[in-house]
Amino acid sequence: MKSKNFFFAGLLLASSMTIADDSPLYTVVDGDKVDAKTFAGWKTWRAMACERCHGAKQEGLVGPSLIDSMKKLSKDEFKKTVLEGRPGTAMAPFNEAKTVVDNIDNLYAFLKGRSDGAIQPGRLQLIQDPGAESK
Ligand code: HEC
Repeated sequence: MKSKNFFFAGLLLASSMTIADDSPLYTVVDGDKVDAKTFAGWKTWRAMACERCHGAKQEGLVGPSLIDSMKKLSKDEFKKTVLEGRPGTAMAPFNEAKTVVDNIDNLYAFLKGRSDGAIQPGRLQLIQDPGAESK
């Protein structure tokens, strides 16, 4: 039991990217189990069908690979791009989609996790509720 807890703590340390504040941007276990916020980010991605242009694995299609983009964009640049769009391109503003506005930080966390290689492509589950989303 003790060693299991230790292992879990190690995973959290290894896979949590922290910014200045003390809470991790996202938490992932086994590549596909994530914290509730990151899960909400993935749900938002799915609900808005960002994959139509950025690909189901975020590797790019009509739109650029967000695996690459997320390594370069600051959080502010990310938010501005998604909320205001890129005029003159296929990237439309999402500032009238409540789901996106409410979940912009969660979306950022999810995509950073994908870009960092910590979160695997495909369906995700909640850490707190393993199995619930496994079908
Ligand atoms: C209709 C196609 C389309 C959809 C849907 C779409 N995008 Fe985009 N997106 C693009 C294109 C094209 C670009 C490149 C714009 C440019 O040339 O600056 C882009 C750019 C971006 C960028 C900036 C990438 C960079 O390297 O500067 C981000 C971040 C992004 N999209 C996120 C999203 C998210 C999140 C969603 C869903 C909420 C989404 N996109 C939905 C087409 C799309």
